Amino acid sequence: MNAPIGVFDSGIGGLTVAKEIMRQIPGESLVYFGDTARVPYGSKSKNTVCKYSKQIAKFLLTQDVKAIVIACNTASALARGELEDMVDVPVIDVVQPGARMAAASTKNNKIGVIGTQSTIKSGIYESYLHKINPELTVVSKACPLFVPLVEEGLFEDRITEDVVSRYLHDMKEYEIDALVLGCTHYPLLRGVIGREMGESVKLVNPAYETAKSLKDLLKEKDLLNVSGEKPEHKFFVSDGVDQFRSFANSILPYQVENTTVVDIESY
Ligand code: DGL
Repeated sequence: MNAPIGVFDSGIGGLTVAKEIMRQIPGESLVYFGDTARVPYGSKSKNTVCKYSKQIAKFLLTQDVKAIVIACNTASALARGELEDMVDVPVIDVVQPGARMAAASTKNNKIGVIGTQSTIKSGIYESYLHKINPELTVVSKACPLFVPLVEEGLFEDRITEDVVSRYLHDMKEYEIDALVLGCTHYPLLRGVIGREMGESVKLVNPAYETAKSLKDLLKEKDLLNVSGEKPEHKFFVSDGVDQFRSFANSILPYQVENTTVVDIESY
């Protein structure tokens, strides 16, 4: 089916998921929405994140999307249920695939999870991980300064190194061997995070498993694009078009020519 897939996040973080979808299912067109005017979501309440996510889903449906990927852990944790009730297309989140991947990655059954305040407070990763394996020890930590560092483009910077070390230093005591990057912005800091945690800790980026789950789902529902037509991606934001476009072009294997501003509050 030659309809696009809707992908959304609070800002540029979801581009790490979009990139993986483009790699694993290159025949599919994407409609990406980054809520750059209202980022960050990670410090906001469930009510607010649900309201924002529903507005975005309404917008994505006007683009005739055949599925929606919540490329944001915070929205996955707080709004997935409400979103699913509202739309009649399949919805995929990033948390369940991320938990599956982490459980499969650990050898010593000790997993770390980092994410926004709201994601960590929701306990959603622990809950999925313990459903998969009740024996797992899960150590969680909110890292609220990571998102602004990414949105400022400070992927490799002394300030970033200081902040990463401050948040993750204590986690090393638990001898985890897998660390879930439980916010879609964090893979953009994986160099600094990897150096801080050391080689014995596998960094788990849920994007890989999310794209795989999406592919399986599209196959199962007979929704894969088999028309052979070249995919066309569209990008929308709620503010800051130029900054978004230059980020998108540095992250994606695709030349983003146009990005359009949407008055998301009107949805
Ligand atoms: N990238 C998002 C996540 O995966 C949200 C970051 C934010 O807006 O706080 O949680």
